[in-house]
Amino acid sequence: MDLKSLIRDIPDFPKPGILFRDITTLLRDPDGLRYTVDVMADHFADASIDYVLGMESRGFIIGTPLAYKLGAGFIPVRKAGKLPSDVYSVEYALEYGTDRLEIHQDALHPASRVLIVDDLIATGGTAGATAQLVQQVGCEIAGFGFIIELTFLEGRKSLPSDVPIVTLVQY
Ligand code: PRP
Ligand code: HPA
Repeated sequence: MDLKSLIRDIPDFPKPGILFRDITTLLRDPDGLRYTVDVMADHFADASIDYVLGMESRGFIIGTPLAYKLGAGFIPVRKAGKLPSDVYSVEYALEYGTDRLEIHQDALHPASRVLIVDDLIATGGTAGATAQLVQQVGCEIAGFGFIIELTFLEGRKSLPSDVPIVTLVQY
């Protein structure tokens, strides 16, 4: 399936000069949504995934049906101050300043095998910070999955080099 034809390009969003790749048009397409989840699940079907971690907010959309399909649990990685119980926290760089991602301390155990998913990898800051959170707990990252990779930003370089990275569409 031609996923690119279902992704909408919005010039100058959220700032002048940025070409925003909008997945809402892919998500609203029944065949596109099913294909996206199925193809990602096929890549990791034999990876013995215990938990899928999805990053706020668009990582929740793809991560939850993927976890269901893989027979895994879903764990949200949220922006600062949103999770109600005790958290581990990691700071990461944004274009201007820093932000913070958090995960519940009791969500993972050292023996868990996790798959980290998001809609898109740009600079890799978000996924790299999530990998740090997971490694802090001591559990194994079995893979990364993204619908979209903005290859010119070289986000892969921010991820552990020995872990499989699956991206379905590249720009
Ligand atoms: C976007 C996207 C990824 C991240 C990728 O999320 O959904 O999570 O940016 O960028 P990076 O590779 O440079 O870190 P955003 O922070 O816009 O949050 P949202 O999903 O809540 O809109
Ligand atoms: N689309 C969606 N999210 C993004 C993008 C984009 O082009 N760049 C950074 N985050």
